[in-house]
Amino acid sequence: MLVVEGLSKRFGGFLAVDRISFEVRQGEILGLIGPNGSGKTTTFNLIAGNLRPTAGSIRLDGAEIGGLPAYAICHRGIARTFQIPRPFHKLSLLENVALAAFYGEMKGISRAEAERRARQALDLVGLPSDPSTRTAGLGAAALKKLELARALATRPRLLLADESLGGLDAAEMEQAADLLGSLRSRMGITIIWVEHIMGVLMRIVDRVIVLDHGEKIFEGAPAQAAVDPRVVEVYLGKT
Ligand SMILES: Nc1ncnc2c1ncn2[C@@H]1O[C@H](COP(=O)(O)OP(=O)(O)O)[C@@H](O)[C@H]1O
Ligand SMILES: [Mg+2]
Repeated sequence: MLVVEGLSKRFGGFLAVDRISFEVRQGEILGLIGPNGSGKTTTFNLIAGNLRPTAGSIRLDGAEIGGLPAYAICHRGIARTFQIPRPFHKLSLLENVALAAFYGEMKGISRAEAERRARQALDLVGLPSDPSTRTAGLGAAALKKLELARALATRPRLLLADESLGGLDAAEMEQAADLLGSLRSRMGITIIWVEHIMGVLMRIVDRVIVLDHGEKIFEGAPAQAAVDPRVVEVYLGKT
């Protein structure tokens, strides 16, 4: 579905993503892990059109999408969540997600249709979809769910989930991981899932890619990653 080849991103003299290549198959959940600063979010920014690649190619169903603007990539069926949720605090949850539904629809839709899609997305993640609930007082887990609902309201075929477990307690992490798993099984959404810790991600993903200093250092089964000498070194330091 997605083929990334030789993808690089340079910020001044610093190479944040260094010639990485990987593929994502239709219907799979691919884990993308690595320590803080290893280039995970930058990779998402490149795929989602928030940054232009310095080099390399990104093909979706065979068509080059590298360097297209974010809205064009969204219209082709890729949605991303942001690591740090920044909802519109003056709007209701429903309005926040309805805005995403408008953004995701190339043809233009009525407000009623946008709200219908928003309610569907909010129901899926388990957040209230009444017109009055606002973001004030929402905890980390609810804010992460809102990020997911905003992405889902654009009706993606490929979802890029950035640190969906950040700031959650153990029970909330399990719930969030199960939710991502069910998006694939119930809706057929293909997922790339970024986390900096291995944790519960490893139970859900089909394959895992490990980044370190912008380079891909491992690709394979989760069980193999956990015993790979380079991966162990990156996570635990040299022994
Ligand atoms: N817009 C930017 N300008 C300059 N440096 C950046 C920018 N975005 C990210 N970086 C740097 O690139 C590296 C990778 O960042 P990031 O992709 O956010 O890592 P991760 O998501 O794996 O924690 C970090 O060293 C970060 O400081
Ligand atoms: Mg990040």
